[in-house]
Amino acid sequence: MYELMAPREPAGEGPRPAHVAIIMDGNGRWAESRGLPRLAGHKRGAERVREIVESCPDLGITHLTLFAFSTENWKRPASEVLGLFRLFRRYIKKEGARLVAEGARVRFIGGRERLEADLQALMGGLEAQTLDNDRLHLTVAINYGGRDEILRATRRIAEAVRAGTLAADEVTPETIEAHLDTAGLPDPDLILRTSGEYRVSGFLPWQSAYSEFAFVDARWPDFTAEMFAAQVRGFGRRERRFGAVAG
Ligand code: IPE
Ligand code: IPE
Ligand code: MG
Repeated sequence: MYELMAPREPAGEGPRPAHVAIIMDGNGRWAESRGLPRLAGHKRGAERVREIVESCPDLGITHLTLFAFSTENWKRPASEVLGLFRLFRRYIKKEGARLVAEGARVRFIGGRERLEADLQALMGGLEAQTLDNDRLHLTVAINYGGRDEILRATRRIAEAVRAGTLAADEVTPETIEAHLDTAGLPDPDLILRTSGEYRVSGFLPWQSAYSEFAFVDARWPDFTAEMFAAQVRGFGRRERRFGAVAG
């Protein structure tokens, strides 16, 4: 009762998250609950991305990072994995021109070696085409896992130490950041996961040290720009302390 009577915060109050990262989860359950194949959910999910991307500038979001495929998702049936990669190709081909026109800078994070050469070429092509854009920094995580990212960074740092171009005691947090896939990107202010799961599944472990988290029950294919805006407003009501005292 008390909660119902509490005054509601006016919309748009408080700071806005500049960088939002989203774990787009729940495509499979969305499809299964409708008696559809899981891939139908992934297709719907891919279609949802445009509306969320397009809503960012008005919400004051300059960086959007999307988790599309994890290093653990290879464990799924081959048909689902193949279908997902078909969707990624289609997304890049179909949305690429629009993203260029809208001034988005697109980056991909995650290990690329395991991806088919033609997909790697599509990804590299879109990155090159959008290099000078800065209206929205859109980062898509494909074959991304936080442990894998830190492992790859550590190996490269170790190589530099072995080659004598870096001293072990010169390794700083900045050195590590510079070797992560997200080098040059700010840390996420808000990490949002759809579909009612309360876990991070390997997403951005280094970068999320002081991120705020939001979990919503809606499955990704049902997640609307209005729901997104509500979460962004909710962020403004939080108090971030970064280990210091309030004030
Ligand atoms: C998210 O939806 C997309 C990927 C992980 C590729 P899921 O496919 O995980 O959907 P659920 O969690 O099984 O419902
Ligand atoms: C996380 O979702 C990865 C993506 C959304 C791409 P999963 O569905 O793979 O995560 P778990 O298996 O529920 O932890
Ligand atoms: Mg899932």
